[in-house]
Amino acid sequence: MSLLDVFSKCGTNAKSEGKVAIVTGGTSGLGMETAKYLASRGAKVIITGRTKTKLDKAVDEINKYSTNKDIVGKQVDYGNLTSIRSFVTDTIATQPKLDILINNVGAIGIEDKLTQDNLNSMMQVNYFGAFLLTYLLFPLLKSSAPSRVINISSLASALGHVNPDHLNDVNVYSSFELYSNAKLANILFAVEMSKRTVGSGVSFYSLDPGLIQTDFFRYLDNEILKKILNSALHLIGQPTATAAKAPLYLAIDPELDKYNGKHFRSCSEFYTNWYAKDEELNRRLWEKSKELVKISAKEDWEIVKVSNDNVI
Ligand SMILES: NC(=O)c1ccc[n+]([C@@H]2O[C@H](COP(=O)([O-])OP(=O)(O)OC[C@H]3O[C@@H](n4cnc5c(N)ncnc54)[C@H](OP(=O)(O)O)[C@@H]3O)[C@@H](O)[C@H]2O)c1
Repeated sequence: MSLLDVFSKCGTNAKSEGKVAIVTGGTSGLGMETAKYLASRGAKVIITGRTKTKLDKAVDEINKYSTNKDIVGKQVDYGNLTSIRSFVTDTIATQPKLDILINNVGAIGIEDKLTQDNLNSMMQVNYFGAFLLTYLLFPLLKSSAPSRVINISSLASALGHVNPDHLNDVNVYSSFELYSNAKLANILFAVEMSKRTVGSGVSFYSLDPGLIQTDFFRYLDNEILKKILNSALHLIGQPTATAAKAPLYLAIDPELDKYNGKHFRSCSEFYTNWYAKDEELNRRLWEKSKELVKISAKEDWEIVKVSNDNVI
């Protein structure tokens, strides 16, 4: 543990030996750094990314950092819900347990269009993908309880708004508005999930990681703006190694159990967006999201719960 850890709230001595963790978007930036930390604390880590070459490179880099070599890369494209469903099927078939899920995939500047799943492309990559993955992996998380899910949000969520009837409008919002709306939806879904699964032993958190030194704006098509914004991030953002201490802390520190459903900035509880208090809105967002990602009767553990009259 470094001297910085001693003074930072992010410091944790907790280990993750024997745990299995999924970090989505683990091929670069915050996700890769978080995967390194989890691996070096002993967890088996599964990272996702879209391309095999980037995944192989990331797995190599994590292996170099950690003495634990139990690192796996899986190809998952959030622009395609079938790809997420295949990843879930593979995970359930190959992993007897899942202790930590970090929903980290995120992007801005993606072309504003409907995907083959009929969802707005920005909303799908930044929100619906994580919603579907978490919904489908919940039974495995529950059978592995105590387990945790961390949704990586952003300060941009403060500028977001959520209208369940207009989640997939195209040519209405700017990329930044869509990003803000999706990052807000990530906070709301952590809150709603925590309420709907009380007693399951699975805890849900959302995290604003602050500005980080990554090339996050690389998908913008305006070359000048892309350069300016990425340079600004590298100038004023935190190093990824600093930023990743927050998701690590939320994933493994034993103190966190009592904060189910809460929003964090860095490693302290932070104001949860006021939309989270609107129970009717959150219910509508939940129902609409299930409908839009086409949760089938077989996938729907809420139906199973009601029909069996069991407490989940
Ligand atoms: N950087 C910041 O200042 C900042 C601030 C607040 C919040 N955040 C949030 O932090 C998270 C990580 O961001 P970062 O800065 O570390 O960015 P990053 O380096 O660009 O990492 C993004 C990750 O998401 C994956 N990804 C992007 N589009 C995808 C898609 N369509 N399907 C599957 N995977 C996809 C990328 O994988 P491939 O490209 O390899 O497929 C990559 O691994 C994001 O959720 C972001 O919103 C970042």
